[in-house]
Amino acid sequence: MQLKVGVIGLGIGMRHLEEYAAVPEVEITAAADMNPERLKAASEKYRAKPYTSAEEMFKSEKLDAVSICTPPRSHLQLTQMAAERKVHVMCEKPMSTSVNDAKKMVDTCGKHRVKLMIGFKKRLAPAYAFLKKKCDEDLGRPVWALVKFALGRVDMDWFWDEQDGGGPITENTVHVIDLLRYFMGDVKRVHAEGGNYFMRHRSPQIDTGIFTLSFKEGGMAGVGAGYGSEWAFAKEEVSFTTAKAVCEVKGNFDQPGNLQYIYRSQPDKVYTENFAKPDGFKEEIAHFIDCVINDKKPLASGEDGVESVKICLAVKRSIRENKIITL
Ligand SMILES: NC(=O)c1ccc[n+]([C@@H]2O[C@H](COP(=O)([O-])OP(=O)(O)OC[C@H]3O[C@@H](n4cnc5c(N)ncnc54)[C@H](O)[C@@H]3O)[C@@H](O)[C@H]2O)c1
Repeated sequence: MQLKVGVIGLGIGMRHLEEYAAVPEVEITAAADMNPERLKAASEKYRAKPYTSAEEMFKSEKLDAVSICTPPRSHLQLTQMAAERKVHVMCEKPMSTSVNDAKKMVDTCGKHRVKLMIGFKKRLAPAYAFLKKKCDEDLGRPVWALVKFALGRVDMDWFWDEQDGGGPITENTVHVIDLLRYFMGDVKRVHAEGGNYFMRHRSPQIDTGIFTLSFKEGGMAGVGAGYGSEWAFAKEEVSFTTAKAVCEVKGNFDQPGNLQYIYRSQPDKVYTENFAKPDGFKEEIAHFIDCVINDKKPLASGEDGVESVKICLAVKRSIRENKIITL
């Protein structure tokens, strides 16, 4: 079975194209972006038919699936356009900075019976995928987690705009918020400190935060995130502790390639796994196509996307209102 796939937005969308090109069941059909240079690069490298507007692309092409890789403000409208034409949607994170808009995306995809997968690549990144399986089968659910996920400078206007990217907490920290939900379940309480410390010209947008999450099933996580680093130092470090084991995932930012764990019953013996291509994009795109072809529910669903938006907004509210937020 061959699926005709389009990509809208050619920043990280180029990475989607690279991974679609590696899936035998995919025929890269079209790409849309108003940036002519990006469009030219995509059409030359991947033979995607170029469109300067997504609407034109949908009108002219009969697509089976699309990746929406534009800034969040446009995600709802583009998802509606796709779903109404029965095109399955892989949408980059965050779904939106509005819970209502994110819910509308779930509703429209449900109504038109198309898949909606959110770009939470960490669920499929090899180190976390390995560890999740290990936790489910053997180590148990983590009840203590500590995450360092501070990024370097990003200075695109949309990233900082409250109604678009919403700053680093909604645009970026959403990745680890989703990861924590994946391992530890739903969040009941958020307590955050933070503010505008380093990107003064983006004030009053929050650029940095440190927060705790408490989970409905028990357990707690601490997260240090936002613009707390610079790219040369930006690391991803996640510790998960269960009743039975202590686990550490480490790597450069967005490159979680090294996993180590020990059993508490045997604390001197360290188990190590290293993963060469650790970011999870390859697995994410392959999974989306598998879901479309074999009618499976995506591992990172629209409902997961909505929950993660709620938690990001609670972190920001906790900082701004200086109080603990109960979800
Ligand atoms: N999963 C990840 O690791 C990851 C990494 C980077 C970005 N992202 C997400 O991807 C999205 C885009 O981020 P980016 O870094 O690629 O941004 P970017 O600004 O580099 O690129 C976005 C592109 O979308 C185009 N665009 C904007 N609105 C459009 C529209 N309505 N129709 C067609 N094209 C349009 C712009 O011209 C631009 O070329 C964001 O939601 C971001 O959070 C995810």
